[in-house]
Amino acid sequence: MIELCSVHDLNEGESLGFDITGKPVFAVRKDGDIFVYHNECPHLGIELEFQENDFLDLDGALIQCSTHGALFEIETGHCLSGPCQGDYLKPAEFTVKDEVLYLVV
Ligand code: FES
Repeated sequence: MIELCSVHDLNEGESLGFDITGKPVFAVRKDGDIFVYHNECPHLGIELEFQENDFLDLDGALIQCSTHGALFEIETGHCLSGPCQGDYLKPAEFTVKDEVLYLVV
């Protein structure tokens, strides 16, 4: 397991990116739940964020790829619109222990 951050570092409606293993991932908290995906757009396989730790659309309702604007459901990674519509972000396995978020590798 690889430690990513304290769960308290990930605020409701926000996202954080990590590049610890050479395979970047990002985490989002929505309605108290945490979701972690590989930072790889299913369209071109490139990283999604607009700026560091900035993976969400303006409303914070969906994950957005900054390159061509694909929008993904936070809970499922399902692409709702954009060039990869119907595809999914790849979930990353994680666990929370003693309020610390870990990537399972
Ligand atoms: Fe993400 Fe094209 S690379 S929408």
